[in-house]
Amino acid sequence: MLRIVVMVSGGGTNLQAIIDGVGNGTITNTEIAGVISNNKNAYALERARENGIPGICVSPGDYESREVFNGKLLEAVDAYAPDLVVLAGFLVVIPPDMIRQYRNRIINIHPSLIPSFCGKGYYGLKVHEAALARGVKVVGATVHFVDEGTDTGPILLQKAVEVKQGDTPEILQKRVMEQAEWIILPRAIDLIANGKVRVKENRTIIDQETRK
Ligand code: GRF
Repeated sequence: MLRIVVMVSGGGTNLQAIIDGVGNGTITNTEIAGVISNNKNAYALERARENGIPGICVSPGDYESREVFNGKLLEAVDAYAPDLVVLAGFLVVIPPDMIRQYRNRIINIHPSLIPSFCGKGYYGLKVHEAALARGVKVVGATVHFVDEGTDTGPILLQKAVEVKQGDTPEILQKRVMEQAEWIILPRAIDLIANGKVRVKENRTIIDQETRK
């Protein structure tokens, strides 16, 4: 059974997709051990509460320095003894010590087809604003393993989504979430939970029979 911790900062719709996936069997062999947010007002924590999942807030503003916060955040993650850490809209930089300790055991969902529209400053609506400004016809989402860079770790899954005439950033964000994020993040967790993923240098290898 894969024990996962989900780290969130906002509305938690990706967390909800994971909760629903575990509930309806889309995600097998997995239990959500806990939810950690940097934002005590994150609705994602309410979603955890509604589903009987332990949820805590570890906020940088509660500690005298980033170093102290980093230590407390890693302690909070370790306390759940996770096999996998899932960043689902988590907007705080992951401490280097945590990345080392959980090498290739932290995944992130990013709302673009990496390497487009990613890296420092590309998060949330900003990603979709940049895509519309560039005039791309296809966008999408990416699940990748987290390394010391920003959105630079080995890519695990990607799913493309069409840009439509008249899209606003908000409309495009919603389509990318519904048609890509909420599908590939649960699928990525299920693949890992069933030992179907290997990381080789900066790429991933997925056992072929599982590719749909
Ligand atoms: C999503 O757009 C996700 O791609 C990005 O942050 C947002 C989180 O949304 N990483 P939610 O909190 O899961 O609703």
